[in-house]
Amino acid sequence: MTSSAPIIQSPKTECKAERQPRKAAALVLGVETSCDETAVAVVKRLPDGSGAILSNVVRSQWEQHRPFGGVVPEIAARAHIECISDIASEALKTANTQLTDIDCIAATAGPGLIGGLLVGLTFAKSIALAHDKPLVAINHLEAHALTVGLTDSIRPPYLLLLVSGGHTQTVLVRDVADYHRIGSTIDDALGEAFDKTAKILSLGFPGGPAVEAAALNGDPQRFAFPRPLQGRKEPHFSFAGLKTAVRREAERQQPINDQTIADLTASFEAAVCDSVIDRVKLAHRMAVVEIGEPDALPIVVSGGVAANKRLRSALEKFATTIDVPAIFPPISLCTDNGAMIAWAGAERFARGPLAGGLDTSARARWPLDESAAPIIGTGKHGPKA
Ligand code: KG4
Ligand code: ZN
Repeated sequence: MTSSAPIIQSPKTECKAERQPRKAAALVLGVETSCDETAVAVVKRLPDGSGAILSNVVRSQWEQHRPFGGVVPEIAARAHIECISDIASEALKTANTQLTDIDCIAATAGPGLIGGLLVGLTFAKSIALAHDKPLVAINHLEAHALTVGLTDSIRPPYLLLLVSGGHTQTVLVRDVADYHRIGSTIDDALGEAFDKTAKILSLGFPGGPAVEAAALNGDPQRFAFPRPLQGRKEPHFSFAGLKTAVRREAERQQPINDQTIADLTASFEAAVCDSVIDRVKLAHRMAVVEIGEPDALPIVVSGGVAANKRLRSALEKFATTIDVPAIFPPISLCTDNGAMIAWAGAERFARGPLAGGLDTSARARWPLDESAAPIIGTGKHGPKA
């Protein structure tokens, strides 16, 4: 019996192993297809570690998913296939460059919806092979974690609060590729709680921005929703109970009017802010002890929910009380985009040797801190990490 060789052989086009960071500037093409955005970007990383976005093309699939009230994996994968090539061409054209000038191709390999991941990763592998370029497979969470290096030149160490549709974690980012998860959600991710709240109140899709818009004229004190896990010694998060409390209150308020919807969403956001700040405060204390640095450890907030203005200002206010900087990527780079993938690729490419090249498979689940024990509780994509 002969052993089967991988269909795509990697060694020739892998980055050569190097111990030292590369000195030259690098042009990286980043491909993101893990959920409902097809995104390609070109980013330049300079030898001093700074970066610049030369193009960042994002095509959202919201219109295709809206009739279903959420992301439909099969529709997402098909929509990525239909436009990935055009989006990549547009990204190269906007950046005024071509594939021959690109030094490295980066693509999200997980975590996310497997169909979409396969589309983007296979597309990236194909062009890497065809143009003899190195490929680096990127963890989507790492890309969110490192975005502030591109946008604000922030270098580790820092405490990361990652709040997206699938994840809610505090992570001590010690360095690129060196992550220690401190806290995680035991049930719903924060973005999921926003999306479900929007669904309960029939606010449409995507839920987070809809809740934020509805809450603008609301009274955040009208409904005293629970502040999940507030004061608890474990640095974790929980949002399932809060979502249920919103559902019960919405049922009590029937027939519901616009002002009540505004008050419910504002009160929901207020409970989210109090709970998140309490959890971040604890995680920050733990991170400072772990890293053994008396100096201010910055708090970096990333992921789609970091676009929420009430949460941003609450976290900013909290950070001033403990005298540390709070850093958020610009709102357009909080939600999924190709620039963050290209940047994570550039950071890894600059360091070499690359882990995860052409022979990397797409992974629906891929914890940022692989050594962290799974947290009790399961979501629709399996145990939370
Ligand atoms: O990072 P992201 O774009 O995709 C994932 O990696 O999951 O995050 C998407 C999540 C969704 O749950 C969406 O409702 C939420 O981020 N989101 C928001 C806002 N914008 C996006 N949540 C609250 N307020 C927002 N303005
Ligand atoms: Zn994301």
